[in-house]
Amino acid sequence: HRGWPGLIEAYRDRMPVQDDWKIVTLLEGATPLVAAPVLSEITGCEVYLKVEGLNPTGSFKDRGMTMAVTNAVNHGKKAVLCASTGNTSASAAAYATRAGITCAVLIPEGKIAMGKLAQAVMHGAKVIQVKGNFDDCLELARKVTSDYPEIELVNSVNPARIEGQKTASFEIVDVLGKAPDVHALPVGNAGNITAYWKGYREYHADGIIDSLPRMLGVQAAGAAPLVNGAPVSEPETIATAIRIGSPASWNQAVDAKDASGGMFRAATDEKILEAYKLVAGQEGVFVEPASAASVAGLLASREEGWVKAGETVVCTVTGNGLKDPDTALLGMPKVDAIGVDPVAVAQALGVN
Ligand code: F0G
Repeated sequence: HRGWPGLIEAYRDRMPVQDDWKIVTLLEGATPLVAAPVLSEITGCEVYLKVEGLNPTGSFKDRGMTMAVTNAVNHGKKAVLCASTGNTSASAAAYATRAGITCAVLIPEGKIAMGKLAQAVMHGAKVIQVKGNFDDCLELARKVTSDYPEIELVNSVNPARIEGQKTASFEIVDVLGKAPDVHALPVGNAGNITAYWKGYREYHADGIIDSLPRMLGVQAAGAAPLVNGAPVSEPETIATAIRIGSPASWNQAVDAKDASGGMFRAATDEKILEAYKLVAGQEGVFVEPASAASVAGLLASREEGWVKAGETVVCTVTGNGLKDPDTALLGMPKVDAIGVDPVAVAQALGVN
């Protein structure tokens, strides 16, 4: 909203920053909590979408990155490194540019959405493709940053990332005036579910909310280690953002689930794509495929009765649909162009 100072300034009393620090911000946060009338009708619940695709680089990663890069530069770091399925790299690249430091990103070869790659390139990051998946990239990034401490690791294993991302819970409560009954979100490396749970718990501990949501963590069926209870060595899903087999914040995610009375569940690519189309085609909100996993999880959980009619539910939709035009246009029928002719337009519309 107008005059929004970015999330560090907005929640400064809850953020681990020092008074004399230079804050690196692109005015991230304050994303809309959009009512979802169609999903509410289908479920009999009061459903909202936390539209994180409206952050500066189009995903929730900006919340964590303003903190991680601020923390890095105020500790004298001159470079940041991350492993990424695409969004973290786009965000790290933008915030590093803003801070005037170097950024390198390790991405799984051929497995990131086009828009995300374009962002990292345009922000001037050193883009390094790795013959391996995200888990391999993260292991590599951890080794490099432990051998070269002057390079800061900005994946969500960096505690500053979690501090930034917890503000999404604050914003939801600040708008609803309470915590939702259920909070659904896609889970990959499990940083975000860790962060949301931390945010809700902080508000609860301070008496700002008197109840906590049940956390519903949704993974893609082909990349569902937390649901299976064991790492997946070759994760596969169309939702490339969450194509992760060995989540770094495993224990924290299990804690969020258990302590909140929540659950993990898997959604098949088919169900993810159905939800992806529903949210864009019926609610008017274009999100990327991984983001729609939260909605697919809500629909399945409501059908099973785990989510009850009348409950207030927030689904975090984590990234902007524009990041992945290839998936959006998959299977689009090829249509011949028409002449510059009003009759032809009317015919194309089925009006005769
Ligand atoms: N949704 C989107 C759009 C993501 O990009 C990610 C993670 C998640 C959900 C899952 O969040 O990892 O905190 O559980 N993307 C990371 C990346 C891995 O590299 O951009 P998580």
